Amino acid sequence: MTRGLRKGLTSYGDDGFSLFLRKAFIKAMGYSDDALDRPIVGITNTYSDYNPCHGNVPQLVDAVKRGVMLAGAMPMVFPTISIHESFAHPTSMFLRNLMAMDTEEMIRAQPMDAVVVIGGCDKTLPAQIMAAASVNLPTVVVPVGPMVVGHHKGEVLGACTDCRRLWSAHRAGEIDAAEIDVVNGRLAPSVGTCMVMGTASTMACVIEAMGLSLPMSGTIPAPHAERIRLAEASGRRAAEIAVSGGPKPGDLLTPAAFRNAAVVLQAIGGSTNGVVHLAAIASRTPHAFTLDELDAIGRQAPVLVDLKPSGQHYMEHFHHAGGVPKLLAHLGDLIDLDAPTVAGGTLRDAVAAAEDVPGQDVIRSRDKPIKAVGSMAVLYGNLAPRGAIIKQAAASPALLQHTGRAVVFENVADMGARIDDPDLDVTADDVLVLRNTGPKGAPGMPEAGYLPIPKKLGRQGVKDMVRISDARMSGTAFGTIVLHITPESAVGGPLALVRTGDLIRLDVAARRIDLLIDAAEMAARQSAWDAQPPQPVPERGYARLYHESVTQADEGCDFAFMARRPGE
Ligand code: FES
Ligand code: MG
Repeated sequence: MTRGLRKGLTSYGDDGFSLFLRKAFIKAMGYSDDALDRPIVGITNTYSDYNPCHGNVPQLVDAVKRGVMLAGAMPMVFPTISIHESFAHPTSMFLRNLMAMDTEEMIRAQPMDAVVVIGGCDKTLPAQIMAAASVNLPTVVVPVGPMVVGHHKGEVLGACTDCRRLWSAHRAGEIDAAEIDVVNGRLAPSVGTCMVMGTASTMACVIEAMGLSLPMSGTIPAPHAERIRLAEASGRRAAEIAVSGGPKPGDLLTPAAFRNAAVVLQAIGGSTNGVVHLAAIASRTPHAFTLDELDAIGRQAPVLVDLKPSGQHYMEHFHHAGGVPKLLAHLGDLIDLDAPTVAGGTLRDAVAAAEDVPGQDVIRSRDKPIKAVGSMAVLYGNLAPRGAIIKQAAASPALLQHTGRAVVFENVADMGARIDDPDLDVTADDVLVLRNTGPKGAPGMPEAGYLPIPKKLGRQGVKDMVRISDARMSGTAFGTIVLHITPESAVGGPLALVRTGDLIRLDVAARRIDLLIDAAEMAARQSAWDAQPPQPVPERGYARLYHESVTQADEGCDFAFMARRPGE
């Protein structure tokens, strides 16, 4: 087998000359022949001044390099795109597939026998794992880790569940401008990813449970020395699998791993974004991650982890309580412990090494769950023929069965312009509807699904309303919010047909979301929609590629042509 610098030689006539040339260039960096004549472990560098969540990446890269060298291999660091939630316009989801392509092609293009991908901010780990699944080179995932918590007036704060809560309080006039400025400096007190169970933490935990990273990698706080040691150990392990040739992502991304991922997603009260990412990762394997299986698992798997936004603790507390291995231990027979891991054994080994922490109250046992059923439910109905998601764990119980009058917003701009209008005809019993916010519609399926409570209702003390859209929602948000309505309105999904004043019925127990108009009226509205002139298409560049190729939420919003073809 060709290893190290000899892998994938660029053709300059003969291989001998191609290698000679490659070595001549790399020696410009001061490498010796001894260094170059070894297996190579590539390491992705996703540091960026625009990505504070990845602020510890340089330290982690150093530690991975040290681990690789201690094990006798050669580390080679290379850059890829980095994406931060707040700095990615129009949305980070729009760019996820670009990062997946960049990462995949750079792993393919450059000589390496294994790769360590270091990521964390929401879309980065999914992008990297989509890439790793497609390349199928031995891969170790190193999450950057969660931030430590912040404090304000004796209260513990976390990005960004408390960002929303406190901003809502400011909007309602409960917190003045001076105090909200102080809070602004306390919400994100260290580098690392949001320290609630947002998308970043969700994916870091799910990926650990899928065996793609070393035990405890999902939860160690970003600034802790333990995280640096984990990076060193990950580098060592990558050097070993560079030599042994496996396990590869394809050996780990099995039906059991996807099932385990769904159980953990439900049990941690995970982000709804995790559903889209797991579908995308699965689409690059021969296996599926379906909404029906997620819902079926949610009926068995309880919520056991007491973390914001559904619960009360933060990621560092989950870590100190035993992290993912302890959670897997509590989940018992819901988890397939024979699933292999990149560490070399199976999940059973990770569970056997899980720490017992007397008195901890973050990870519950199955006889004392936070919620007896999983955090998410999948809804169907005449408004969502291909499904929609509700995070029932973060919803108001009184609204889980609710019929209300629709108040429709055409798009994000329309919502921004009208939601706080004192003359807006809206009551707390209405259903707020937002459309044109799906994968193609916005584009990039923004996290606009958390429609704000209209200011005039907020001032009256209304904290939650039923809100429905084809958008996503930040994993750090909460409320009775129906998301990912598929097909989206921009491609003619039934959400496009709702009119202000229609009645909408949400029935989570029955798993239904319906527009209460008769079939003939629905058909008439659909014909009228179909007869409209099509919306303009982006003329060039990535936006055009995205528009032409992005799949719907149930399929993961990957590019259709990136999926693994049947039989491959
Ligand atoms: Fe990066 Fe929340 S903004 S993880
Ligand atoms: Mg997020």
